Amino acid sequence: MKKDIDFFENTTILIVDDNPTNLKVLSNAIAHSGCEILVSIDGESAIEQAQYAQPDLILLDVMMSGIDGFQTCQKLKNNSATQDIPVIFLTALSDKFDKVQGLLIGGVDYITKPFQVEEVLARIQVQLKLRYLTKQLEAQNRHLDQRVEERTKELSQALNKLKQSQLQLIQSEKLSSLGQLVAGIAHEINNPLSFIVGNFEFINNYLSALINHLQLYHQHYPNPNIDIVENANFIELEQLIQDTPHIISSINTGLARISNISSSLRTFSRIDISNKILFDIHEGIDSTLIILSHRLKYNQQRSQIEVIKNYSNLPLVECYPEQINQVFMNLLANAIDALDENSQNLLDRKLNNNNMINTITITTGFNEDKKSVSINFKDNAMGVPLEIQEHIFEQFFTTKPRGKGTGLGLSISRQIIEEKHNGSMKCFSVLGEGTEFLVEIPVK
Ligand SMILES: Nc1ncnc2c1ncn2[C@@H]1O[C@H](COP(=O)(O)OP(=O)(O)O)[C@@H](O)[C@H]1O
Ligand SMILES: [Mg+2]
Repeated sequence: MKKDIDFFENTTILIVDDNPTNLKVLSNAIAHSGCEILVSIDGESAIEQAQYAQPDLILLDVMMSGIDGFQTCQKLKNNSATQDIPVIFLTALSDKFDKVQGLLIGGVDYITKPFQVEEVLARIQVQLKLRYLTKQLEAQNRHLDQRVEERTKELSQALNKLKQSQLQLIQSEKLSSLGQLVAGIAHEINNPLSFIVGNFEFINNYLSALINHLQLYHQHYPNPNIDIVENANFIELEQLIQDTPHIISSINTGLARISNISSSLRTFSRIDISNKILFDIHEGIDSTLIILSHRLKYNQQRSQIEVIKNYSNLPLVECYPEQINQVFMNLLANAIDALDENSQNLLDRKLNNNNMINTITITTGFNEDKKSVSINFKDNAMGVPLEIQEHIFEQFFTTKPRGKGTGLGLSISRQIIEEKHNGSMKCFSVLGEGTEFLVEIPVK
């Protein structure tokens, strides 16, 4: 603290005395110190004045007509607007002044009349100094409280950030091991698949050549040996020749489907890519749909889910395909979960859900102005109540039973879209009608 603080500077002192001569003498004495003086000639007006003028100190005569000094002091102390203002009692030597009571009801000191100017000023100064220090202490405490609060906030923010990055780490670790697994499987399938597909061409050609050859044989030797006729009957040669093209085409379809799945697995995982690349969003959605295809099929609760694709012409998007596919996976899996839950709810309420058509509508678009693509996933399940909508992007928030929901899907997805791709992700939902998730990603 500075030594040369003038405690009288900028201070206001209220003097209360019902004797005008006393008032005058006292105020003249104090006025030299440089502080502002207010006066009151009775208790009631002193209380009023103290309330609006907020003096730094009150000099209060004890013996006054009307309410006396003690009562006035008591009222000041009972009023929150004036209770902190220090009160020094003024008392005549002849008065029977009860010092103890005066201090008990909140007075800080007393001055006896007739007084010595130096003593009055010294006592006032002590009180002003005390008040100044108390105020400083309070201000410092407030500042300290504020600092503590700020630090606490900073720390909890840091903690949150840490938690989030830890979560992201766990998730990306999980993702990359899942990605590795998927890529591994795709590779393992792809190898034998390629020689099956390659050789299938040959076997197909060989078979038709053999059949042609048989038919040529039959043409030139219409009456073969009895053993040959019997064997032809035994193996149902006619039927066999008729069926063979169908079998071939069915195998062909199966092979095409496996190839499709295998390449989807590869598109989905894309773990070979550690930086952003130009990616076909539709390819990502389609490969995710293929991986989820078993969940789209009908089940015990509901009919098959119809996936309606409203694809627009999209430019390639610079992104991490593995992460973007993960977002599509989370949103589609949530929509399927919701459709399952909705159907189960209807069944639980013994309502017929036979004619309910479960749909997931995927709409994509390109915004020329914003230079961003939008992908909208919309389901026609039960929707999300408003009070739940506020929380769905929070980590660990789930309405699903233990073991089923982790509450991480949407928070991770939002992080991927907003933090890794500078995009945005929003949820719109009408209760009883369905839910939409709108993802926007800038193209570059
Ligand atoms: N399509 C949707 N329809 C209804 N509710 C949804 C949908 N998508 C998400 N939700 C709600 O958001 C919550 C959080 O989703 P998510 O973060 O993916 O975690 P989880 O699926 O593990 O519960 C879900 O538990 C569900 O209540
Ligand atoms: Mg989920």
